[in-house]
Amino acid sequence: MDGAVKQSVAQADASGPTFERLGLGVGLRNSHFDHILKAWPEVDWFEAISENFMDSGGRPRWVLDQIKERYPIVLHGVSMSIGSTDPLDRAYLAKLKALADDVKARWVSDHLCWTGIMGLNSHDLLPLMLTEEALTHVAARVRIVQDVLERPLVLENPSSYVQFQQSTISEPDFLRALCDQTGCKLLLDVNNVYVTCFNAGTSTDAYMKAFPFEHVVQMHLAGHQHCGTHIVDTHDGPVCDEVWQLFRAAWQKTGGASPLLEWDGDVPEFDRVHAEVLRARAYIDGIDPVEAVATRSRTSAATSTPVDFMVPNVMGESRMQTL
Ligand SMILES: [Fe+2]
Repeated sequence: MDGAVKQSVAQADASGPTFERLGLGVGLRNSHFDHILKAWPEVDWFEAISENFMDSGGRPRWVLDQIKERYPIVLHGVSMSIGSTDPLDRAYLAKLKALADDVKARWVSDHLCWTGIMGLNSHDLLPLMLTEEALTHVAARVRIVQDVLERPLVLENPSSYVQFQQSTISEPDFLRALCDQTGCKLLLDVNNVYVTCFNAGTSTDAYMKAFPFEHVVQMHLAGHQHCGTHIVDTHDGPVCDEVWQLFRAAWQKTGGASPLLEWDGDVPEFDRVHAEVLRARAYIDGIDPVEAVATRSRTSAATSTPVDFMVPNVMGESRMQTL
């Protein structure tokens, strides 16, 4: 990251919510534990799946405790079920808050989805009917979660395989309204954009044109399986060229939000996964997000809520230079 860009990022952080630019991150996976503890690889940050570490005992939590001393940690959940009509699971939220505080999570994310009903967990990220009623419902739940966590919630656009005829709001517009109403932030998964749009037969250009990039604090990259008539979001391979092109366009518009690679199936050795996210450099080099950051700063100042200021700016100057 060159000096001009670094300075601009610092100005944005000084005037609005302080979500750090962490550099290029890797999703923390159990099969890499031994390598990480032995080699302490020069990766910028890790994203840990919240549910894998919420119980305080066991080796996974011990490993995370070692890793948190050397790398920034972000928590990413799959079970909050923010869109469900079940009551929010207060015990889950309490555990999540305790974990986030303990590992000094830079932020906490989950998905715009529902994962179960009547106490059952489907272990799937199920799509929501995007209506005004759903928006009011989800916004109320996001406020509760943020009160419990004492920080803004970060929500990810999910991969979808179906669309509801009853939906009246596009996903980008729904996410924008949710941010405006609650002060929550966004995790933009560009692979999910590609998967959702292909499966729905809609345009990625239109999706990207409508997306509220000013609220994005993190990005996801991942591979998928193209089955001809549809795409399955498998996270079991390298990122395809089309998704890299979406990343290039989106990263600039976010003002340099922190990219992270997800690899969950047929997980190769750590160095191969790390190398895949480092390919992002080729799509970032030469891009100057100064104007995007300036726009983001102005927008954030206008729409921020008190919880925005609960997130401390703990990034050192050295971290700012990692992209
Ligand atoms: Fe993702």
